[in-house]
Amino acid sequence: MVASSPSGQAKWSSKTAFVLAATGSAVGLGNLWRFPTEAGTNGGGAFVLLYILCVVLIAAPLLLSETLIGRHGQRSTIGSAVHLARQSGASPAWSAMAVLGLIANTLILSFYCVVAGWVVYFIGTSGMGLFEAVSGGNALGGAYPAQSPDSIREMMPALFANPGLLVGMQSIFVILTVVIVARGVKGGIEAAAVWLMPAFFFLLIGITLYAAMTGDFARAVNFLFSPDFSRVTEPGVMSSALGQAFFSLSLGGGAMIAYGAYASRDTNLGSTSGTIAFADTAVAIIAGLAIFPIVFSVGLQPDAGPTLMFQTLPTAFHLMPGGAIVAFAFFVLAFFAALTSSVSLLEISVGWITEKFGVSRSAAAWGMGLIIFALGILSALSFNILADQRPIPFIPGFENAGWFDAFDGITSKLFLPLSGLITALFIGWVADKKIVNAETGLTGGALSMWRFLVAWLCPLAVTAILVLGLFPQLLG
Ligand code: PHE
Repeated sequence: MVASSPSGQAKWSSKTAFVLAATGSAVGLGNLWRFPTEAGTNGGGAFVLLYILCVVLIAAPLLLSETLIGRHGQRSTIGSAVHLARQSGASPAWSAMAVLGLIANTLILSFYCVVAGWVVYFIGTSGMGLFEAVSGGNALGGAYPAQSPDSIREMMPALFANPGLLVGMQSIFVILTVVIVARGVKGGIEAAAVWLMPAFFFLLIGITLYAAMTGDFARAVNFLFSPDFSRVTEPGVMSSALGQAFFSLSLGGGAMIAYGAYASRDTNLGSTSGTIAFADTAVAIIAGLAIFPIVFSVGLQPDAGPTLMFQTLPTAFHLMPGGAIVAFAFFVLAFFAALTSSVSLLEISVGWITEKFGVSRSAAAWGMGLIIFALGILSALSFNILADQRPIPFIPGFENAGWFDAFDGITSKLFLPLSGLITALFIGWVADKKIVNAETGLTGGALSMWRFLVAWLCPLAVTAILVLGLFPQLLG
């Protein structure tokens, strides 16, 4: 018996729509918030170097593997993986990568909506700041004109100390995500990507030029591109870089299988995967080149962690000429990026539920939205009421992680790479070579290179980094 029939499966309107939607999934808070956070706390250049290596050698080949599973299956993520396994005469248990992916992506979406809620809040505060600046006749002044730097720095802690506000902001974002996904692949997800992604790129280029002209660009370039080699070999930095590559490219058995399933047969998956991986990496680096010059120019530090974007940056905008406009534009940009990613995270489970249980898309989206909202409350409250809880102290490296850090760390450092490992073994060794090779659109040397990376390098490197990440003492 095969998994349910693919008839009626939705399709993107064009190859461009697929590339925009998939790039929209990849480009998100992972690039704007997580990448600078991780680069800032893991030594800058060392992390960036490892990150780029992970993208080129591991993540990009896996991106092609995932999109091809989806395109070949034309079903939900799990349905497509089962389908390819059966056609290859292999056990349907290989779909474990998609089962793991569905769980991981649901957990990711829960805390993702919390962070996106912070973005919504800062759109509000920076919007009010812009209004004050304009009505005070000084539109080209700094952000938050009526506030002192200290009170700007206090905005984030004050938000964190207010559970009702955090959950309220989170709920706004969950609802927006659900509404878009409920409208369907073409009418919702594609429409959002086609409008929001060009707007995103436009704002990003504007803000980067602003940072280059007004900020300490040279120091940012130095910070991001001159690696401290003593940190390159740290297991913690390696597993952070790998986790970031998976997170940022939306890998790990979820979004890219789901979106690949809506791609038409004449889309060349090899070249589109390359485009998506390149665009995502470029955005991460450009975001670093937009954020760090501003941070450095006012003498702030790059290693603030998750508050970099919400505390360090607003304080910097306050001191910069034109900061009022740029601060508002920056948070709107982050919001657009977050929304085109969150819809892909939700589509994974919604696609599967509608296929498996025959319920309507809108019922599945609202139902999952509720679960994700409830799970997300744990992350939101881990900054206040539940601050003392340590949900997974038994996993090495997570002894001190609260709910938020646990969800974030366990998904990107364990679940996504583990799912990627299963995908690499499945595509590299188990799945029917003829089907797989034909789906890639690659030929000759490019095909052999890709096969080598997926079959050998990905499994070995991911296993090594997973093991070292969990047991750093192995390195002595
Ligand atoms: N890639 C997205 C980002 O960078 C997050 C994401 C992860 C989306 C996994 C889908 C699946 O923000």
